[in-house]
Amino acid sequence: MAFQKSLLALSLVAGLALVGGSVSAADQKGKAPTTAGAKAAYTRQENFKQQGAVFKAIRDELKKDVPNMALVSSQAVKLKNSAIALPTWFPKGSGPESKFETDAKPEIWSDPVKFAAAVKRLQVEATKFQTIAASGDVAAMRAQAQAVGGTCKGCHDSFRVPEEK
Ligand code: HEC
Repeated sequence: MAFQKSLLALSLVAGLALVGGSVSAADQKGKAPTTAGAKAAYTRQENFKQQGAVFKAIRDELKKDVPNMALVSSQAVKLKNSAIALPTWFPKGSGPESKFETDAKPEIWSDPVKFAAAVKRLQVEATKFQTIAASGDVAAMRAQAQAVGGTCKGCHDSFRVPEEK
């Protein structure tokens, strides 16, 4: 009886996991996006991965006692350029309705004014960062990197589905 009960519990847990699990990134791996919306969502995620890598390179460098200024400067230019390009990564139809797994919330398209403001904040702070990076003032760069990071978080908090715990 006890054995049967635990079996039942097990199958319940398994059933719940099936019901609760949406299409995961792993399921989509290797599946090439076919529609325009899915392709755009895929490309957007690749662009964000790159932007994330660029910003991480900057922050890692600025943690060092003697940061490599050439590296910070060149990454700062990339960051600014991707901030400028960012609005083009969100064509209509590339949200959840694309059926491609995306963390982009529908509010991006339903509240374009608020979204544009979040984009603008990143562009302003990334542009400032690029100017400061060229100046060679490490303390100022560190402070400005914080400001940039705040704009990433600001947009993610409003417009990106939070990561599962
Ligand atoms: C104006 C809004 C906005 C700003 C600003 C923004 N992001 Fe994002 N970011 C998003 C959205 C929306 C997604 C989800 C995209 C998707 O899943 O289709 C995302 C996803 C990401 C991802 C995950 C990509 C993936 O699929 O693996 C990374 C990494 C990322 N952003 C880094 C950054 C960094 C670093 C900054 C700041 C330098 C930044 N973002 C600024 C909106 C923003």
